Amino acid sequence: MKKQTLERLQNKSAVIGIVGLGYVGLPLMLRYTDVGFNVLGFDIDAEKVKKLNGGQSYIEHISSEKVVSAVSKGFMATSDFSEAAKADALILCVPTPLNKYREPDLSFVTNTTDMLVPYLRKGQVVSLESTTYPGTTQEELLPRVESTGLRAGEDIFLVYSPEREDPGNHRFETRTIPKVVGGHTAACLEVGKALYAPAIDTVVPVSSTKAAEMTKLLENIHRAVNIGLVNEMKIVADRMGIDIYEVIRAASTKPFGFTPFYPGPGLGGHCIPIDPFYLTWKAREYDLNTRFIELAGEVNTNMPRWVVGKTMDALNERGRSLKGAKVLVLGIAYKKNVDDMRESPAVELMELLRDKGAMVEYSDPHVPVFPKMREHSFDLKSVDLSPALIARYDLVLLATDHTKFDYDMLQKHAKLIVDTRGVYLDPCENVIKA
Ligand SMILES: NC(=O)c1ccc[n+]([C@@H]2O[C@H](COP(=O)([O-])OP(=O)(O)OC[C@H]3O[C@@H](n4cnc5c(N)ncnc54)[C@H](O)[C@@H]3O)[C@@H](O)[C@H]2O)c1
Repeated sequence: MKKQTLERLQNKSAVIGIVGLGYVGLPLMLRYTDVGFNVLGFDIDAEKVKKLNGGQSYIEHISSEKVVSAVSKGFMATSDFSEAAKADALILCVPTPLNKYREPDLSFVTNTTDMLVPYLRKGQVVSLESTTYPGTTQEELLPRVESTGLRAGEDIFLVYSPEREDPGNHRFETRTIPKVVGGHTAACLEVGKALYAPAIDTVVPVSSTKAAEMTKLLENIHRAVNIGLVNEMKIVADRMGIDIYEVIRAASTKPFGFTPFYPGPGLGGHCIPIDPFYLTWKAREYDLNTRFIELAGEVNTNMPRWVVGKTMDALNERGRSLKGAKVLVLGIAYKKNVDDMRESPAVELMELLRDKGAMVEYSDPHVPVFPKMREHSFDLKSVDLSPALIARYDLVLLATDHTKFDYDMLQKHAKLIVDTRGVYLDPCENVIKA
């Protein structure tokens, strides 16, 4: 079986099935169609399926032309999972959020697998890409896959290969980001490598699915902890009257042993605030506490409150209260130059400000209308920036530093700016760093 699957992957006659066509699945689909594979996309969201088949993208940094080109090369999206039998590879890119108790919610992964099980067949390779705790592939996918009577490593091949994406970063694309792969058996790994080799320049094999799962968590925990550290340093530096950004710039001149991380108004995005807690949860099974993760989580979670405290102080010094103040929040996506709002700290800032009686509006060229979110609601549209409009606000809170903002114009016309991203290098009277 393995020989046939390897051949089909190597000569590109294999059909690649991408399950979950979001921020991770969509670029991967485009890459496989680009290198000449026939690709089938699966998503439970009928709206997304319709848009893709009509040649339309729903992700800002992916152009509709790319989707049109994929469709012209034979790409088709569907919500009909019986089509999965046609795919030689099934790559799962579904969400892995936390539930309200900050515990892993694996329901998307397990539901998706359950939906695929009736259509699994000999010779297929199943690869999970969703970020998750070590052991997920073995404990959750393996029994489901083998419930069909197929043996993993002999009839069907099971791998875990974490996705690495940095939306908005134009220096890398799917092809040039090295991809870690772990297999359930040696044969699974061999097939896993053959699955990714045609699409990705560098495939990095590891000894097990668990090692691959842990690799992804290490990468994201490394970021979460270092951002927590630099956020703590920012608070200390601020109290001491030191500009943390100047310090980071100076420290970055050290040619070895230092990697810069930047403070901000809190953690955002679908990964860094969430993934570390997958390990925290799993470690409890082993009677272990993940203290760095918890501590970083505590520091990072407190950042929006700290920023609001600084904002109140800044207004107070000018004889104003936050209650009744007109506040414009600049940039509400979770990071620079993207339209992704998931876990954005800007939204928490907006809520805290509103709770304290401020009149809050926002401007974000990437988010024209405040989207429907599960836990937040604002009936707002992005306002267009002009000198006259900026001057009307008591305070401008710079939450996300999109390149499209005209920072000179803002500084010239705003009464007061609270800069949470270190955009303004030189001290100015109307700019407070927070
Ligand atoms: N966004 C990133 O930058 C990024 C980077 C690395 C890893 N990841 C990880 O990749 C995974 C996917 O993240 P994402 O950002 O692409 O999520 P997303 O929400 O953008 O996309 C997930 C897609 O899966 C679909 N879906 C949900 N349940 C399904 C089911 N049962 N069957 C088929 N489709 C289903 C949804 O409709 C959605 O289109 C997560 O585990 C995430 O942690 C994300």
